[in-house]
Amino acid sequence: MDLPKGLAGVVISETKISSTKDAKLTYSGYPIQELKDASFEEVVYLLWHQETPTVEQVQDLRKLLVSEMKLPDETIRLIKEVAKEPQHPMSILRTTVSLLGTTHNEDGLDQPPVILAKMLTAIAAIIRLRDNQKLMEVHEDWGVVENFMYLFTGQRPSPEYVKMFSTVMVLHADHEFNASTFTARVVASTQADYYSCLTAAVCALKGPLHGGANEQVFKMLAEIRETGIKPIDYIEKQIAAGKKIMGFGHRIYKHGDPRAKILRGIAEKMAQTTNNSVYFDLEEQIANYMFEKTKLYPNVDYYTAVIYHCLGLDSSTFTTMFAACRTTGWMAHIIEQQTDGTLIRPSSEYVGEMHHYTGPIKAQA
Ligand code: CMC
Repeated sequence: MDLPKGLAGVVISETKISSTKDAKLTYSGYPIQELKDASFEEVVYLLWHQETPTVEQVQDLRKLLVSEMKLPDETIRLIKEVAKEPQHPMSILRTTVSLLGTTHNEDGLDQPPVILAKMLTAIAAIIRLRDNQKLMEVHEDWGVVENFMYLFTGQRPSPEYVKMFSTVMVLHADHEFNASTFTARVVASTQADYYSCLTAAVCALKGPLHGGANEQVFKMLAEIRETGIKPIDYIEKQIAAGKKIMGFGHRIYKHGDPRAKILRGIAEKMAQTTNNSVYFDLEEQIANYMFEKTKLYPNVDYYTAVIYHCLGLDSSTFTTMFAACRTTGWMAHIIEQQTDGTLIRPSSEYVGEMHHYTGPIKAQA
């Protein structure tokens, strides 16, 4: 039987949330290139309602999200317990989301805005607590992105940086049936609660073939910089050893990831303004060589590695940023799947041998 490996090209369901048809990314029919300057809150509304909001609806959503960003003391105490262990931040996040589901919302009654707001603050808290930094207070009169940046960096960002990071969040907000969203939908299809779906999504995002790639990209740049190896020699060596170069290639986009094109400009700008051009220049050299050698293009995780570094983040926390942005899309898909009500339960083709059981076999001496 000829089966598509990794479900490549298999359409498993209809959706009104987003599309990558013809390698063009759209959210509820709107091209990402037109949404990149929309506010994060507008895009949250669009993905959750599949229609653009009125000015009042955006204001109301912003107010609600910001008012829900404060974490209860009990949740902070629990995150402190988990975050003090020397674990990977994505492992801490996985446990934290699961804990949020047991302590904050035993009956699964939290609504999407509450969950998104808590996720953002919890991620910022994980980042700061693992570095023994004090937690910052939410400002009710600031927007969601400004507050989120303040919570994880400890500094009020400039309007220019809020704008750039808002675009990063918008571009990551959804991506139809990627691995973590599909995972969330499988769990949602059993009618499990929101936090169970999100915990599963975080687990799927962690891997380096999905969201975990951004951390690996920066590790590669840092290694090249520290060892002084020529980028081309580094790439040659990795490819000769049969290793993939993180941040390149995509299941859907064979001629370039539309998000990466926009993120490249942001990475360049942030690198210039934070004295990090050395990393952006390395990325340029690697991207040019990768195209020449493999015809592969950078994906969404390639330029965010430099962007997150410029924001002062440790590379181990990069994927938690992806989770913060993607929670919007996860929630939209969980709701769509639960409303649809169909259990996702595919079939497999058994290719092992058939036997008759006759009891345990005595081990040979
Ligand atoms: N470096 C080197 N070779 C690559 C790479 C890469 N990054 N990506 C694909 N290839 C090669 C691959 O070895 C294969 O070669 P061959 O046909 O000779 O065996 C060919 O290109 C096709 O690759 P594939 O892995 O079969 O393609 P896929 O559609 O299954 O994989 C991918 C997509 C993203 C898993 C893969 O490109 C990859 O592993 N990239 C590196 C990890 C990465 O950057 N992940 C983030 C993806 S974008 C954000 C997200 O959605 O999470």
